[in-house]
Amino acid sequence: MLELTFQPFPVLTTERLLFRELLPTDSDQVYKLRSNPTAMQFLDKAPLTSKEEALDLISKIKNGVETNDCITWAIALKEEPDILIGTIGYWRIVKEHYRAEIGYMLLPQYFNKGYMTEAINKLNDYAFNEMNLHSIEANINPANAASEAILLKTGFIKEAYFKENYYYNGAFIDSVIFSLVKK
Ligand SMILES: CC(C)(COP(=O)(O)OP(=O)(O)OC[C@H]1O[C@@H](n2cnc3c(N)ncnc32)[C@H](O)[C@@H]1OP(=O)(O)O)[C@@H](O)C(=O)NCCC(=O)NCCS
Repeated sequence: MLELTFQPFPVLTTERLLFRELLPTDSDQVYKLRSNPTAMQFLDKAPLTSKEEALDLISKIKNGVETNDCITWAIALKEEPDILIGTIGYWRIVKEHYRAEIGYMLLPQYFNKGYMTEAINKLNDYAFNEMNLHSIEANINPANAASEAILLKTGFIKEAYFKENYYYNGAFIDSVIFSLVKK
């Protein structure tokens, strides 16, 4: 069985990015991110409607980290470490199977600069080599072409297409499952 510990919190960096713990002081940016119609377009989750909900989400994420059940990093530019520009993490960690689902999002003004490709490559290295995961899954809305593009760019393989397996906002939505297995 996979054993995880996220204490101390693993702060990571790439050439341009810093990955750090989410803090209550990120609530403004988390609210902006999780209520932005472009960022939320293919998430198929209810947008946040207040800063209090953002604080609640940050607190839930902190609990998951403390119990070693899941982990989400705040993404910031190295030169502006306090300003959250997005999030990335592994949730739905299935410890029996050394497998987790990756989730990631950016504020739209940071799209198409290669940031998420840089982030996913770094975090997957961490996931395979430090967390000791064996495989990583990504579950996307078939219309999310940017997400599909970065998954393919970072080595994921399209493995499944589920028809109408996800119910959100009065509609049954298809899902595409990608995965990456440790080499
Ligand atoms: C998906 C997302 C994380 C991509 O982040 P990003 O930093 O813009 O990604 P990158 O710049 O590293 O790479 C984007 C790639 O997608 C391609 N792309 C962007 N928009 C696209 C579109 N509409 N159709 C096809 N490809 C697209 C870009 O051309 C680029 O590929 P290239 O470098 O080969 O040209 C970002 O769009 C986002 O946060 N979206 C909202 C949240 C979201 O949908 N998260 C995923 C949920 S599964």
